[in-house]
Amino acid sequence: MSKLTEIVYCGIILLLECWFSSSCSDKGTPSAITVNITCDRNLYLYVDGKYLGGDVADAKQKHYLTNEIMPHSHVVAVRCTASTPPWQGGILGSFENGLVTDTSWRCTTSAAYGWNMRSYRDDDWPMATSHGANSPSTFPWGNIDSIDKKAAWIWSSDNKDDSEVFCRHKLVKECTEEKQSYFQTPKSTRDIAIQGFLLLKVRVAGVIECGLKCGQNSACVSFTIQSSDIRGSRLCELHNVTTESHPQSVVRKEGYQYHEVVQTFY
Ligand SMILES: *[C@@H]1O[C@H](CO)[C@@H](O)[C@H](O)[C@H]1NC(C)=O
Ligand SMILES: *[C@@H]1O[C@H](CO)[C@@H](O)[C@H](O)[C@H]1NC(C)=O
Repeated sequence: MSKLTEIVYCGIILLLECWFSSSCSDKGTPSAITVNITCDRNLYLYVDGKYLGGDVADAKQKHYLTNEIMPHSHVVAVRCTASTPPWQGGILGSFENGLVTDTSWRCTTSAAYGWNMRSYRDDDWPMATSHGANSPSTFPWGNIDSIDKKAAWIWSSDNKDDSEVFCRHKLVKECTEEKQSYFQTPKSTRDIAIQGFLLLKVRVAGVIECGLKCGQNSACVSFTIQSSDIRGSRLCELHNVTTESHPQSVVRKEGYQYHEVVQTFY
């Protein structure tokens, strides 16, 4: 959404609650990206359900696969089967858009039909377990130079007994998942301000502009704005704390109204 659309949209809905989309995309990855990925031992790489590449990756031999992921892609899915007991499985990869294998992935040991497709709901899959950093001291793989240092060797929680895993991650944050709404909390919010924890103090035309400023600042979780009875511009203060997280910094300030960011996940 363009900024103008956002303003209009918020204005139409109502002043107290207005919706923002943060750094997200419903169109998937904006451009083609490359991935370097390996696993111990047989890797199958999918994007939005389509097989992209794989075969014996053999992390122990420092082999890895390089693939290009087309623009407008949404979900990456990886299946890996370990070699022989003791299995000791691990998947390690880095993507050009900054995504790396880590504990924000989800991994399961048995997957249902469609497990690698975009529409598949993986909410009930466990989060991945890290079995070591991409570093020379990580046994038995050591480090893989072409894969980002921030990547971790992921698997299910038990990488000695689980011989096969299915892991997934989104390539972009989708707008339908997260919306921010700025609102006046049910508690009293009038004549309240926050002392300190100030990120920015600006003059704005109204609450929507103040909310947009907050939306553009990733540290902003609340803001206070001078009431509308002041003619012309109004003071807008962005904060990185809330009245709840820092009750000791709440002060009475006549003519100010406090708003807070609420994130809703779908
Ligand atoms: C993949 O490996 C190549 C060769 O080492 C490197 O130039 C590139 O930056 C790597 N890409 C990613 C996404 O890790
Ligand atoms: C809030 O921002 C200030 C700088 O303005 C910083 O010193 C402080 O650590 C931040 N506090 C929190 C809770 O993020």
